[in-house]
Amino acid sequence: MVSLTRRYRFSAAHRLHNEALGPGENARLYGKCNNPHGHGHNYIVEVSVRGPIDAATGMLIDLGLLDRIVEQEILERFDHTHLNLDVPSFKGRVPTTENLCVEIFDLLRDKFDVKSGSARLEKVRLEETNSNFFEYLGPSPSPAEGAACEKR
Ligand code: NI
Repeated sequence: MVSLTRRYRFSAAHRLHNEALGPGENARLYGKCNNPHGHGHNYIVEVSVRGPIDAATGMLIDLGLLDRIVEQEILERFDHTHLNLDVPSFKGRVPTTENLCVEIFDLLRDKFDVKSGSARLEKVRLEETNSNFFEYLGPSPSPAEGAACEKR
């Protein structure tokens, strides 16, 4: 099994604001990130896939296919948008980088299952600033699956 990670970039604006909370609580919780008109980030997203090397091609996945999946599903959807206003899945859900990282993973996961042979999505790493990045590897295994792993 080998892993491949490829890096992409997009720019988007967001405002961290929870509709269920009052203005004071939002300001306390999110600080400057709650400013009414939002602010932008140049996000760097790293997509990792994992699987066996194809015997015929010597590759894990065709990079052109990986690029097409990420461009169609992620870059075209999010680049130069305001996440709160332009992206339906963030209506009523705070577009923190944590939530955006999970959203990107969920959008990509099924595409790899269908289109990419044996390569599977392993991880999404989303960099918001030089200091912050978030990683998501999919949902935690259920307690039953965890128990099965321990027995092995
Ligand atoms: Ni921000």
